[in-house]
Amino acid sequence: PSFSYLIEKKRDGGEFNEDEVRFIVDSILDREMPEFQMAALAMAIYFQNMSAQETACFAEEMMLSGEVIDLSKITKPKIAKYSTGGVGDKTSLVLTPLAAACGVVMPAMNGVDENFVISTLDKLSAIPKFRSDIELKEFVKLLNNVNCAIVQQHPEIAPVDGILYELRQNTATIQSLPLITGSILSKKLAEGAEGLVVDVKWGNGSFVKDLEQAKQLARSITRVGRSMKRRCVALVTDMNQPLGDTVGTALELREAIELLKGEGPEDLKELVLKLGMEIVRLAGVAGSTLSAKQTVQKHLKDGSALEKFKEMVAAQGGDTSVIDDPDKFPTAKYIRKLPAPKRGYVHTINAGMIARGVQILAANSKKGGKLDPAVGVSEIKKVGTQVKQGEPLMMIHYNDEARLESALEYLRSAYRLAPKRPNPPELVVERVA
Ligand code: URA
Repeated sequence: PSFSYLIEKKRDGGEFNEDEVRFIVDSILDREMPEFQMAALAMAIYFQNMSAQETACFAEEMMLSGEVIDLSKITKPKIAKYSTGGVGDKTSLVLTPLAAACGVVMPAMNGVDENFVISTLDKLSAIPKFRSDIELKEFVKLLNNVNCAIVQQHPEIAPVDGILYELRQNTATIQSLPLITGSILSKKLAEGAEGLVVDVKWGNGSFVKDLEQAKQLARSITRVGRSMKRRCVALVTDMNQPLGDTVGTALELREAIELLKGEGPEDLKELVLKLGMEIVRLAGVAGSTLSAKQTVQKHLKDGSALEKFKEMVAAQGGDTSVIDDPDKFPTAKYIRKLPAPKRGYVHTINAGMIARGVQILAANSKKGGKLDPAVGVSEIKKVGTQVKQGEPLMMIHYNDEARLESALEYLRSAYRLAPKRPNPPELVVERVA
């Protein structure tokens, strides 16, 4: 078939067969399909969608466009976790070693381009000497020896997804359920896991703003994942305010270390527990809900999750002394409060705006585009909290006075105060299995 025939077929609502999907993916991989036709095809898919079967075939072919890691020599259950990305979300830093401590092998490859969200790898880069640029052979070795590793997305993993994702960012076609589903499943399943737990975020701090769309995405991922013969569970969770009390590289890493000790803010503790329970149940390490809960809680309380985190950091070359003594992390020169403009209850927070404010503080022209790890915000007052006029809504950690004013604009406008206490948002809205 010609590319223009395929574009026309999709434009008119047709369904691609397996051969056509394979031909499309191969043509993208070989760079035979020109970008203008890829763009037209992506837009046609955006408007006309793909069936579950079509999406499964697309995900499978994208997965097979690169290396598929073989972890069959590792006998323990292997589960991956994926989050669609949220402001203040440090659960991956906690869940990866926690799951390994519970007897589950957890491969974790992470992208670095999560636009306004600070990625897991950005946070880990605050640990001196930590290496995330790791070859596939070494990745498998780390999984064998330590049972977990957090590394950069390898270019040989689902390369067609990399090409398509960049194109979609520039053609307003990110928000397509089958394209998102194929993108996530192709790369996560290429990492060698037998099962996948997905955290689908919805709200103003997520790229999925709409709850109904988040639910549909959760259903799409689990259904297509199952037809690819993998066990999948998805939770739809709130991202209408930052998770936890901090946003910022080193500040978030410190909060993650608290969580690994079974301490830290309630919302994050709850999310770690819920996602952790899904992981150990999917892995078959725990049978019932109760035993899943006990397994997860035990490994946080007895220090084994934190020990596993140190073991992982050491295996990837990092200096673990900062984990024992978090005061060694870089700190900002200045700390000031963001005062509440009036008394009332925190009614809504725009998490996306907080992320942008922090991004302005962290943009580091001196260090060649690298984020300043020391800056960010802490002690974030969450939705439902009562404040007096002038009381801090958050503490701002900054190094550069010149950036403060424009960051403040975002941070201030992120908050809406109201005279009446709002209903607190539900953290886990839906579970889809
Ligand atoms: N995240 C992904 O990995 N892929 C998408 O398509 C969208 C978000």
